[in-house]
Amino acid sequence: MTTDQKELRNALGQFATGVTVVTTSDEGKEPVGVTASSFNSVSLDPPLVLWSLSKTAKSMPAFETSGGFNVHILASHQTDISNRFASSEGNKFDGVDFSACDMGFPVLNEYAALFRCKTHYQYEGGDHIIFVGEVVEYQTNPLPVLIFHGGKYADARPKLKKEDADEVVDLHSGKFTENYLLYLISRAHFQTSLPVRQSYIGQGLSDQEFFCLSLLSMNGGLSTEVISDRLAHTGHAPDNEIFERLARKNLITQEGGDKGDISLTETGQGVFIELLAQSKALEEQLTKHFSEDEIDTAVRFMKKIVDISGSEIPELW
Ligand SMILES: Cc1cc2nc3c(=O)[nH]c(=O)nc-3n(C[C@H](O)[C@H](O)[C@H](O)COP(=O)(O)O)c2cc1C
Repeated sequence: MTTDQKELRNALGQFATGVTVVTTSDEGKEPVGVTASSFNSVSLDPPLVLWSLSKTAKSMPAFETSGGFNVHILASHQTDISNRFASSEGNKFDGVDFSACDMGFPVLNEYAALFRCKTHYQYEGGDHIIFVGEVVEYQTNPLPVLIFHGGKYADARPKLKKEDADEVVDLHSGKFTENYLLYLISRAHFQTSLPVRQSYIGQGLSDQEFFCLSLLSMNGGLSTEVISDRLAHTGHAPDNEIFERLARKNLITQEGGDKGDISLTETGQGVFIELLAQSKALEEQLTKHFSEDEIDTAVRFMKKIVDISGSEIPELW
């Protein structure tokens, strides 16, 4: 590549795109796939899309003759898939989860959007062939998408609208908007903890009892004073009555009488593990709607809020 071509490529790289994997089959019905960022929409009526492939690509004969292709818009966590289909080495489909569509072309199991296309036109485009496909079927998944910009992968983050940046709390009128941070934190807490809360309340456990089990699951053997101290931030620190109730239900045990350390019994551990599994499943449902970068930022942000607002995160976290 000449210096001029490199400069042109860098300038073109300023155009941020999504990343797709386009698949088809070769004459021997073997799966073929390639990473392409040249994908774009063309027309709604008829529904047409395009992408372009280098004439030197090994997969060119398959795309020229197969009569169709499947375009997968990659989700943010699929950089490995993008790299794999951008490399000419080895079998690209080894270890990749996919099935075959009714035309026999590979359909990856994961994607943010899928467009199944019949090849409509093929145009000469310098050192590339431009493929125009007619969309015969499409599917979407609500996942954050992978971005390619300046030769690097990136995540898309929607810009806040102007009104989102305006005053969120009006102390004169006592009004606040949906963008009031503390309101959002509380609401997120209530909404995300509701299913698990309903579960433990259904099993006859109070908030205080649940917090107690939760703390003891992280730290085996704590005195009643330490437990009350560590749970003070919840506003629901347990008293002796709570400890007695949990012991009667055989969920905790106190070694060496009244003054001894408290730990979970096997039953208590079992009850907590089930609630934790429910909570973890909910987290997975939630986090798949965010990019790795957003989750990383959210974790740092929440830890900082916990830190600043006074209660240190227990070391085991
Ligand atoms: C993010 C990204 C986008 C790409 N976009 C295209 C593209 O639009 N067209 C193309 O011909 N090659 C593109 N490539 C390069 C091909 O994926 C790469 O050359 C691949 O090895 C071709 O596979 P093949 O030789 O097995 O056909 C891209 C690579 C990456 C990493």
